[in-house]
Amino acid sequence: MNIRIKKMLQASVALIMSVAVLSSCGKKDPTLKSLFASEDHINGRAGVCVPYSALEDEDRMALVAREYNSITCENEMKPESILGTSPNLSNETDDYGDKIPTLDFTRADAILDYVLNYNEENPNDKFSVRGHVLVWHSQTPTWFFREGYSASGDYVTKEHMLYRLEWYIRSVMEHFDGEDSPYKGLIYAWDVVNEQIEPNDYNKDTNPNKLRCYHNGQPTDWYQIFQGDNSYITQAFVYANRYAPESVKLFYNDYNDSNPGKARNICNLIQEIKATEGARIDGMGMQGHYGIDWDYATQIEKAIRMYAEVVDEIQITELDLQASSGYTHYMPDEEYEKQATWYKYLFDMLARVDHEDGIDITAITFWGTDDGSSWLNDASNVGGGANGRDQAPLLFDAELNPKPAYYSVLGIEEPA
Ligand code: GLA
Repeated sequence: MNIRIKKMLQASVALIMSVAVLSSCGKKDPTLKSLFASEDHINGRAGVCVPYSALEDEDRMALVAREYNSITCENEMKPESILGTSPNLSNETDDYGDKIPTLDFTRADAILDYVLNYNEENPNDKFSVRGHVLVWHSQTPTWFFREGYSASGDYVTKEHMLYRLEWYIRSVMEHFDGEDSPYKGLIYAWDVVNEQIEPNDYNKDTNPNKLRCYHNGQPTDWYQIFQGDNSYITQAFVYANRYAPESVKLFYNDYNDSNPGKARNICNLIQEIKATEGARIDGMGMQGHYGIDWDYATQIEKAIRMYAEVVDEIQITELDLQASSGYTHYMPDEEYEKQATWYKYLFDMLARVDHEDGIDITAITFWGTDDGSSWLNDASNVGGGANGRDQAPLLFDAELNPKPAYYSVLGIEEPA
């Protein structure tokens, strides 16, 4: 076993032991995973995204092990990470005569190796993994869409692109879940398609499927080839169903998930996926990049009911809360308190609606371990949304200390 991973596991085990010792003197404090797993709550998983770089950070990984039982790779399973920013072509050729790209799973595997090792040492407290993501317009290299896999080539035809898509999905599934894969059985869900629907009636006449056409002002590569035809989405669910084990749940994932117009368009898309021969879709991933001042709460509840009409499972897949818009940089105490109230409201609402007939929320995943490493801390617009203000959107601060929101969510006293 890699020494670093071993040290990290020892640290996690030591932390768990100390919690166990403490708890033998009194009642064990709840954690996010114990809360979400309870029958009174959603009876589901507590997840967090973890980047490759966190594997070296013992304190962060100890926090991950203490609070969560599901891991999403922050970037390492995205097409850009697996395909590479420029292609690494092998000598084998495909049916179109193109040299087949070699896929790079190094970083994703490092995270899954951590999970495997942890699970071996903690057979009663295992992690499982959310796969994220197979089809997206962002963080996907343009060469994947072009003749000869060349970034300066012309776009390939639709049929050609579907051929590549099937190859990509098959290869990824074989790597993580093939008969000989050491990771077989770790992944319980995949985001098959991410962020391909527009809100409302955007480009109504030319875009009847309400598909995303642009990213950063440019037509997306998917749009350049498919021109508003949604077969790359419906077929992605056919291929995922063809190559994923039945136990792996297949999700459509999107942001602005509580916008009523967008939710309606997503539900229409899901109905089309379900009507496609050979396709399977099990769940809706509501990313959950919410904010404090919007009137989200009732909208989220309504959107959950809409999604539950068309899919069996709902997961919150990338939860964080942007600060109020009036707030400029450092988090004042009132903002922390507001956030605590809002998070508490959100989780109580999720637990309540999960108990309604026909609604099953199976996991809640936070997008980041702590405020210091949240994507909302920088001005990057990868994935959209970050505005450069220091947002402090999570339950733990940059020093990994629990914030008021953590205590309010778990219903425990904040230490004086
Ligand atoms: C989207 C993606 C995530 C991530 C965030 C921003 O929501 O689905 O993978 O990139 O944007 O970090």
